[in-house]
This record gives sequence, C-alpha cells and structure tokens, in this order.
Amino acid sequence: MKTQTVQLVQSSFAQVAAIADTAAALFYANLFRRDPSLRPMFRGDMQAQGAKLMQMIAVAVNRLGNPETLVPVLENMGRRHAGYGVVDAHYDTVGAALVDTLAAGLGDAFSDDVRAAWIEVYGFIATTMQRAAADSALAA
Ligand code: HEM
Repeated sequence: MKTQTVQLVQSSFAQVAAIADTAAALFYANLFRRDPSLRPMFRGDMQAQGAKLMQMIAVAVNRLGNPETLVPVLENMGRRHAGYGVVDAHYDTVGAALVDTLAAGLGDAFSDDVRAAWIEVYGFIATTMQRAAADSALAA
C-alpha cells in the first residue's frame, strides 16, 4: 500500500474519530437503511457496538504501515465474524455504508483521492477477514 494512501486514510480518520459516537450511529443507520435484514444480527447495545467498531477501525488505520501487526488482528476478527453469521456479500454492504458515513462526516474533505484511499484500505481489511473466515471453514 502506498504511503500516500495510508496518510490520506489516517488524516481523514482523525476527523471522524473526533466525532466517533456520531459517526458510529450514522454508520449503523446507513447500514440498516441499505440492508434492514442485517439489523437482527446485532443483539447487543448499539452504542457499545459502535464504540467497538470505531476502536477497531482506529487500530486498523493506525497499523496500516505495519501490516505484520495488523493482519493477525484482522484474521482473528474475520473468523469471529464468520461465527456471527457474516458472509462475503455483507462486506460489500458494510463498505458502502462506511463510504456513505465518511462522505457525510468529512464533507468537502472527502475528495476523490480520500475516497479512493478508503476504498483500497477497506478492500484490504475485508479481503483479509474474508480469507481467514474461508480458510477456517475449510479447516473445520
Ligand atoms: C471493516 C470491517 C469490520 C469491522 C472493523 C468490524 C468490527 C467489529 C467489532 C470490533 C465487533 C465486536 C466483536 C468482535 O471484535 O468480534 C464486531 C461485531 C460484529 N460485527 Fe463487525 N466488523 C466489520 C465487518 C462486519 C460485517 C461485514 C458485518 C456484517 C453484517 C458485521 C457484523 C457484525 C456482527 C453481527 C457483530 C456481533 C454483534 C453482536 O454480537 O451483537 N461486521 N464487528
């Protein structure tokens, strides 16, 4: 991943992290608007869930420059997500809801370059999680 991609994602995420609670609530509103059938998969308190999501995105964003420390975290998360009933197609919906949220949260700062950088980074996160889920399904 290019240094510029990492920098664009890190600097734009800092803006979203400053409004983490709002961003998380907006993310789930966007997600459930795109696919209401996902709502019952979440059984806990959505504010706590939103905090976990934002914290995990922060970890991922901070470690983009050190993939050797990031990949194992994503692999474990991918395996846990398979256990929540998450399938590959769900990652596209989550990615789209994330882009909606960044667009709203960043406003004019969500330039084409920033959008492209997030799409690349989300693709990396999603494929790493999906691959680990698929590998553990094969091993089971
Ligand atoms: C960038 C991708 C994603 C990130 C960073 C993320 C983050 C998280 C985190 C931190 C948790 C808390 C539990 C744990 O760590 O295992 C969680 C739980 C969960 N996530 Fe994700 N997730 C992602 C993708 C998805 C996708 C694609 C779905 C599909 C709908 C999904 C659905 C869920 C569900 C159902 C739970 C459990 C909720 C519950 O137990 O009530 N996540 N996620």
